[in-house]
Amino acid sequence: MAGVVAGIKTILLAPAARAAAPTFGPTQYKQALGLSFLFYEAQRSGKLPEAGKRVAWRNSSHLSDPVVGGWYDAGDHVKHAYTVALSTLYISWAALDLSAGMSAAGQLGYAKQAAKWGATYLAACHLPAAKLPNGTTLPERFVGLIGEPNEDHNYWGRPEEDHVGLPRKAYVWQRGKHAASDLLGMVSAALASTFMLLKADSPQLASSWLTKAQQLHSWALEKRGIYSDSLPDYQPVKQAGLVASSRYLDKLMLSSAWMYRATGNAAHLQRAYSFWKAESYHHTMLDYDSQTPAAAAVLLHIARFTAAASNLPGKAGYESWLTSQVLLPWAWANGTNSIIRTVKGMHRHQYYTWGNLRQTANVAFIALLRAAQFPAASQHRKHLIAFAKSQIDYCLGSSGRSFVVGFGSSPPVRAHHRAASCKTTPDSKGRHVTCGWEAYWSTAPNPQVLRGALVGGPGGSGAQATSDSVYQDSRQDYAQNEVALDYNAGYTGALAGLLALQVPAS
Ligand SMILES: *[C@@H]1O[C@H](CO)[C@@H](O)[C@H](O)[C@H]1NC(C)=O
Ligand SMILES: *[C@@H]1O[C@H](CO)[C@@H](O)[C@H](O)[C@H]1NC(C)=O
Ligand SMILES: *[C@@H]1O[C@H](CO)[C@@H](O)[C@H](O)[C@H]1NC(C)=O
Repeated sequence: MAGVVAGIKTILLAPAARAAAPTFGPTQYKQALGLSFLFYEAQRSGKLPEAGKRVAWRNSSHLSDPVVGGWYDAGDHVKHAYTVALSTLYISWAALDLSAGMSAAGQLGYAKQAAKWGATYLAACHLPAAKLPNGTTLPERFVGLIGEPNEDHNYWGRPEEDHVGLPRKAYVWQRGKHAASDLLGMVSAALASTFMLLKADSPQLASSWLTKAQQLHSWALEKRGIYSDSLPDYQPVKQAGLVASSRYLDKLMLSSAWMYRATGNAAHLQRAYSFWKAESYHHTMLDYDSQTPAAAAVLLHIARFTAAASNLPGKAGYESWLTSQVLLPWAWANGTNSIIRTVKGMHRHQYYTWGNLRQTANVAFIALLRAAQFPAASQHRKHLIAFAKSQIDYCLGSSGRSFVVGFGSSPPVRAHHRAASCKTTPDSKGRHVTCGWEAYWSTAPNPQVLRGALVGGPGGSGAQATSDSVYQDSRQDYAQNEVALDYNAGYTGALAGLLALQVPAS
């Protein structure tokens, strides 16, 4: 209902409120890219280094976690290795393949820092086999989630004041016992890509990540299944709806492609193709559940730029599917595969209502990775760039309002985010300021500006899907106004892509 009312209001106000269309180009992309890495810094958990700390309102937190460090998933404080991995992968990927854009913005160092932060946590989540004092051997394990989600969601306040001195629950998958092909496929891809990004700067650290990537990749292959099904402990989490992934062949395909890039072993390419053939339906969306478009894009990069170029198994199939089923429908937005265009120009799925801008920005990232595979004068490249630019410009404010916190014209000021909703403590008189559910219910702007975070963006389904106004800047609206690690991932890569491909302002 709120959406309908907002829609009517917008129509009445539109003529008077419309100002000159804002311009977006390299200046804005550089600024937004820099802010995006600030968002990842605001999400940090664990011991925060004092030197170079850029988010003044965050301190060290959750120092008693079974694995300390990493990033908080979204506006909450659980740590999903799965979304840490997705974000680490996309950041490393963009810094490798669109690195000119990172450099042009002066952000390559921050990109490496962010990827290292993510990879360090993922590596720490992988516990090696261990011999116990009584002679029993514990197999390899992987800590996929920290924080009991229901308990976590019932807490509203600062991460610095949560579970102080108290360990949180860890969900641990065990090799030989639990399948986790989707989770470990994503984690091994993240570690392999970050190995590539940092092997020249930190050879020893990077090669330890490659070793772990290989171990986790082989565990992902040896016992197949989705991680949310295999662990009895995880079933209440699953029932609460917190499932990151419902399929795994796409993640094995993605992982195999990155294992090839990291090692040069062509057997990985043959395997990637076998997972592609085994997938009965290739999902055309690009989010944490569905990574087939990402896997196809990296395999086509391999086909274009590496020694495997001439005879990459599956190349023709990846190419025609990615073009006809993903990139063209998203660029046309005329209803093909349910991708439509809002009145003010956002391309989206007609029936997805949650975190739509994440999907859009992810596809923009893939479109730019793909564009970089064509010669500069190619029409196909120009169309891909134009599509990606239009969508990133929409995130930044081409509709008249920005969907990035702390950026541009009328940005969101009430993103659903616990830490940002809390007032600064101590206050000017040195008194401690408490933070709890009153901060959630407050209609005031967040006291802390979570700069660089992309919010979920316009929702609405079916006939309402073309409205740009089914969005409210309300802290209580987690479907449209939450922020998340994975929302910013493709968006960050796309900003680097627009800069790398030198897209001029318009
Ligand atoms: C050895 O210790 C572990 C951990 O306490 C326990 O789970 C296992 O059953 C013990 N094994 C034997 C043979 O006592
Ligand atoms: C969408 O546009 C493309 C390209 O113009 C066209 O081939 C296709 O038939 C259109 N689809 C629909 C559902 O209108
Ligand atoms: C962060 O640390 C500073 C310095 O110790 C302290 O004054 C401040 O209250 C802390 N803030 C939070 C949110 O923990």
